[in-house]
Parts: sequence; C-alpha cells; structure tokens
Amino acid sequence: MTREREYVATADGSLSLKEPSVKELYHNLHGAYAEAFEDYARPSFFVLDRLGFAQDLAREGGRLTVIDACFGLGYNSLVLLDYLLEQERYKQLGLKELQICAIDTDHDLACDAVPRVLAQPCFQALSSDIDCSIFTSLEPRSMQLGDLKLSTLFLNQDLRLALKQLEPTYDLVFHDPFSPRKVTELWTIEVFSQYKRLLSAWGMLFTYSAAPAVRGTLRSLGFNVYKTTAVGGKKGGTMAANKTIDKDLMQASNGLIYELSEEEEARLSTSSALPYRDPDGTFSGEEIRNNRLLEQADFLKNKKN
Ligand SMILES: C[S@@+](CC[C@H](N)C(=O)[O-])C[C@H]1O[C@@H](n2cnc3c(N)ncnc32)[C@H](O)[C@@H]1O
Repeated sequence: MTREREYVATADGSLSLKEPSVKELYHNLHGAYAEAFEDYARPSFFVLDRLGFAQDLAREGGRLTVIDACFGLGYNSLVLLDYLLEQERYKQLGLKELQICAIDTDHDLACDAVPRVLAQPCFQALSSDIDCSIFTSLEPRSMQLGDLKLSTLFLNQDLRLALKQLEPTYDLVFHDPFSPRKVTELWTIEVFSQYKRLLSAWGMLFTYSAAPAVRGTLRSLGFNVYKTTAVGGKKGGTMAANKTIDKDLMQASNGLIYELSEEEEARLSTSSALPYRDPDGTFSGEEIRNNRLLEQADFLKNKKN
C-alpha cells in the first residue's frame, strides 16, 4: 500500500515534503528552491565558470557530469539545469552536454514529484511541459534543450551500492541524504571515499551539512573544504573540492563560498571531527553512531595522556 505523501510549502513558497520516519522535512524550511539554488547550483556554476572549466571542457567533449545523491523531489538537478538554461549560461561554460546520474531508493516519489516541482513559477527556463519522465528514467535517456544535450539515468538503489558500481569520472556531487544523526549510514568515510574515487580533477561535492564529522572526514580524504551560503537560520553548507579556491575568488563569489571560520576550524581538531565508519557497509546507523562514541572516548583519553 502506498502511503499518502504530505507536500508542504517552505518559506520561499516552493514545495517540500514531510518524512515521518525521520521526523524531517526533505528541505530547509526557509526554502526548498532557495537551498538548491544557494548551496548547490549557484556555487557550482560560479566555481566552474571562474576557474576556467570551459577551456578544459572543450577537450572533454563539453560534458559536465553530476551525481545527484538522494534525488528526492529532484530540486538540486532541476535547479542546476534551469540555471544553466536561463540566459543560456551553459554556453558561458562551453557546455554541450549535462549528464545527470540520479540515485534514490524512492523512485515512485521522484516520478510523482518532478512534474509538481517543475510546475512552480520559480523555474524560469524549465517547465513541466518538458517530458518529465527523462529525470526518472531507469534506462539511459537523452534529449536536446536548445544547444544543450541532457542525458540522464536514475539508479533506484541504495546509495552505498550504487556508488560502488559507478566508474570515474564525475565533476559534481550533490550529496543530500537526511541528516547525519538520523541516516548516519549515508555519511560515512566509506561513502565519501567513493566520491573521492569518482570525482575528476575538477571534482566538487556540495552538501547542506555543516557537521564537523562531515567536514573532518572530507578533509581527511584530501579535499579542500569550504563553507557555502547559510540559507535561513542554518550554519551554511559545505563544499569539498579537488581544486583550491583562493581568497580572491571567495571574495568575488559575493557570499557563495567562504573559508571556514576560526571556530569551525578549531572543531576540526576535536573528537567531533572523527568520521562515521562502516567498513563493510553492513552497520545500522545506530551501530555506526555507537562505535563513533567509543572512538571519541579513546581520542579524548589519548589526548589526556
Ligand atoms: C533529504 S531527501 C533528498 C532531497 C532531494 N535532494 C530534493 O532535492 O528533493 C533524502 C532522500 O534520500 C533518499 N534515501 C533514503 N535512504 C536512501 C538510501 N539508502 N540510498 C539512496 N537514497 C536514500 C530518500 O528517499 C529521500 O528522497
């Protein structure tokens, strides 16, 4: 029996959904659209544009590859695509193709949600007139949108398994599961190591989480870690990049990308920054959290000695 879905409006008017099993909303209460725009689409475009992705891209056949991890209602991919199409920004990046690999265990939700999401006025260049089924196709599909080819594939699988099957390389990861405290198994060092394996030299990961466990793990894997815009009352999200973003570029981003504050840096040297671990991909969230508590206790004991 399929349960009733409870769509709700967020503060910017865009639709989100309640998830009773984790008692969380699918998006930031201040705006589902705003979150996708500020923490995923806009900073990724800005960095690619300003670091000269276009020159490299010409050599790669003009393709930008994205993993939309935990696709849900699809905002992160849909807002990026809309932003690229609006004013033909994709031409500024030299893009000929946008390839999206969507991963989520709830394919039915994606099929129900994408037409509703695209029917909203916040989408400027994309509308529900588009054949929405392309975003949820379980077989590879493609279509032409102006001079941009859109290629998609939806993997209706557990994120941990899906990532192991993918081959490098991808340029962007949008990592958007429910929160680390609730769905801990999707925030482990093993999951982030898969992204490290999959991401190109341009590779960047975006997530809404500002948790020291997440930032500490990403840094321990060799990523450069930055902070993204705080949407509403939140602390800001996280960007982890293979490239270094210099101070001038951060300043030019007008608040899209920041260095971590001194306080945030300091927390990355504490037990709060220890990773969640799930070496065989078999632990429950609770087991992972409990094991980390033991590791944190050891960390503190060793520090005292
Ligand atoms: C916070 S919502 C994602 C919101 C989404 N990015 C959007 O823009 O609407 C989290 C998503 O994680 C999915 N999910 C939960 N467990 C998962 C798993 N083990 N593997 C992949 N996806 C999972 C849920 O079905 C849900 O759609």
